[in-house]
Parts: sequence; C-alpha cells; structure tokens
Amino acid sequence: MSKTIHTSSMRPVGNLNEEHILGNVASLNGILADEYALFTKTLNYHWNVTGPRFHSIHKFLEGHYRSLLEVMDGVAERVRILGETPLSTMKSMNEVNQLNEKNGGQMSASEMIDDLYHGHLKLQTEIRNVLEADAPMSTDPGTEDFLISLLQKHEEMSWMLKSHLD
Ligand SMILES: [Fe+2]
Repeated sequence: MSKTIHTSSMRPVGNLNEEHILGNVASLNGILADEYALFTKTLNYHWNVTGPRFHSIHKFLEGHYRSLLEVMDGVAERVRILGETPLSTMKSMNEVNQLNEKNGGQMSASEMIDDLYHGHLKLQTEIRNVLEADAPMSTDPGTEDFLISLLQKHEEMSWMLKSHLD
C-alpha cells in the first residue's frame, strides 16, 4: 500500500506516493538543467550567428530562447507545486547538465541550428524516458500531463529547427 501524503504537506492533495514524487522531482530537476543549457545555447547562437541568413535566424532564435525561458519557468514551478525546491543556481545546473556547451563565435549558422536540433532531440529522449517509467507517473498524472505537453513543445521546436537544415 502506497503512503498517502496528507493535506498538511506542501504537496498537492491526493493519493500521491512520496517515493514517486521525489523521483519525479529528481527527473524534473534533470530536465530543468538541460532546458537551462539549451536556453543558454540558443541565446549564445542568437548573439553570434553570422552569414547571409543572419536576420532571419537571429529573429528565429529570439523566438526560441523566449519559449525556452517560459519552458524553464514551468518546469521549476512544477517542482514547487510538488512541494520541493528546483535547481536554482548555475553551479547546481552545471552539475547535472548533459548538453555540452560550444563556442558560438566559431560556428556556422548551420552548425548552430544542427546543434540546437540535437539538443531538442536529447530533451525529447529524456522526457520520454521519464514518461515510460510507469509507476511514478501513475500516481502523479499532473506531472505526466505537464511532461507530455513539454514533449510536444520540443517536438515542434525540433521540426522548426530541422526545417532550416539542408
Ligand atoms: Fe537580442
């Protein structure tokens, strides 16, 4: 029988399993660190892109970094909704970030788009892996629904990035 969290907790009311919630918080914090890295990369490439497609890609990446900022905010607030503390410093993010940083000043526009595309694919894999861990999600449908929506956002952003590649 799973342990039920009571209303005195900061967590949402319901038949939530403590162990599953803490597992989901760890997953959300891992995703948050990678969203932060992808946001920073996108901002980096927005600043440093050059070439004949400068204006369109510069503007396009501005739309993406603004979307990723909203995404990060949502992931961090989902952790707060679950009654825990999101990773909130650059140091703690860097300790779990799985995306390698690159020097945008030395990359072509196509290399930038390709790198971002693969970053979004990595996030999709990470989110799918969390969703496929059935037990934690079965007791936390709010987080499951949130992650499905997040997956859809990354799928759309991946499609937009891929459409820029030859
Ligand atoms: Fe700007």
